Amino acid sequence: MRILSILSALASLVALAFGTPNPLPGSSNIALRDPAILYNSASKKYFVFATGDHIPIFTSTSLLGPWTNVGAVLPSCTIITGITPPGNCSLWAPDVHFVNGEYVLYYSVSTGGSQNSAIGVATSPSMEPGTWTDHGQVMRSKTGDAFNSIDPNLVVDFNGVLKLGFGSYWGGIYQIVLSSITTQMESSPGDHLAGGNGRPAEGGFTYQPPGAAYWYEFFSDGITPLQGATSRPAAGAEYKVRVGRGPSATGPFIDQTGDAITSGTTSGTLVLGSHDNVYAPGGQSLFRDPVSNRDVMVYHYVRNDSFGGPSYLGINYVDFSSGWPVVVD
Ligand SMILES: *[C@@H]1O[C@H](CO)[C@@H](O)[C@H](O)[C@H]1NC(C)=O
Ligand SMILES: *[C@@H]1O[C@H](CO)[C@@H](O)[C@H](O)[C@H]1NC(C)=O
Repeated sequence: MRILSILSALASLVALAFGTPNPLPGSSNIALRDPAILYNSASKKYFVFATGDHIPIFTSTSLLGPWTNVGAVLPSCTIITGITPPGNCSLWAPDVHFVNGEYVLYYSVSTGGSQNSAIGVATSPSMEPGTWTDHGQVMRSKTGDAFNSIDPNLVVDFNGVLKLGFGSYWGGIYQIVLSSITTQMESSPGDHLAGGNGRPAEGGFTYQPPGAAYWYEFFSDGITPLQGATSRPAAGAEYKVRVGRGPSATGPFIDQTGDAITSGTTSGTLVLGSHDNVYAPGGQSLFRDPVSNRDVMVYHYVRNDSFGGPSYLGINYVDFSSGWPVVVD
C-alpha cells in the first residue's frame, strides 16, 4: 500500500512537472457545452449529454470515441412553460445519474442573464433517444430571488438522501434536499456550497470518488466565452475549474489553503485552467468509469487558436490519490 501511494504521489508530481495533459484524443471534433457523462453497462456505451436544443445525446463505445450525435433527450421539448419563447427549446447544463434502477437527467430552463429559471427532470431505462419521460419542474426561481435555479447536480448523500445542487452568479451555488427525484423537500435556496460574493461561479458538481475520505465540490469560476465572442476576458479572468473538499456532500468545502469556497472571490484550488490550445475550460462533471475503474472529468473548452468559435468536448482522467484532484493522462 505504501509503495502504491508513493507511486501515485509520484505520478501526480510527474503530471505537475510536465504540465497539464491535453484532452484525451477522440473528442476534439465534438462541439458542445456543459457535458455530463455516464456509462450504460448493459449496452456497453458511454452517453454524453450537453446544453443545446432538446438536449443532444452523443454515444461512443470507447472514451476515445468516435462519438456520434444520436438524437435528443426531449424531442418534444420540456413541459415547463413560461421561460423560453415559444418554439425555442434551448435547454442547459444536463446532469445525469443512475438512481434506484433508472437513469435520471436534470436540466435547466432559462435565458441568458435571467433568474426566471427552472430545473426539470426526465427519466429513462437506458438513456437512448426516444426512451426519456419528462416529469417537468423540480424547482424554480424568479427575478429578485437570492439564487438562480440553473446548473442542476444531483448527489446521493449518506443514508440515500437525495440532494440537488444548483446556482450561479446570483448568490452562488446551493443545495436542497429532495424527497424523491421529482420533489423538492427543503425550501430554496438551502445550503450554500460555493461561490457567492458577486463571483461568477457556476456549474457546481459534488463528487466522491468510491472509497475516498472526502467529498469534492467542483465549480466553474470566471467568464465563459460563448460562440461569436469578439474580445477575450482579462488574462486569468476566463473560465477555469476549481475545487474544495469536505466531510459530506453538503460540505463545508475548503480549498488547499484552508479557505472556505463560500468565502471571498478567489477561493478554490485550481484543477484545470487554460493551457496549450485549451482555453477557458469549465462546465465540468465527473463520473467513475466502470471500464477503467478510474475517475473521469468531462468539460468544454474553446480552442485558443479559434477564439470566438464553438466549445469542444474535453475528457481527462483525474487522480485523487494525493487527496486533491489532479488531471492526468
Ligand atoms: C433560444 O434562446 C436562446 C437563449 O436562451 C438563444 O441563445 C437561442 O439563439 C434561441 N434559439 C432560437 C432558435 O431562437
Ligand atoms: C492563446 O492565444 C493568444 C492570442 O493569440 C496568445 O497570446 C496566447 O499566447 C495563446 N496561449 C497559448 C497557451 O498558446
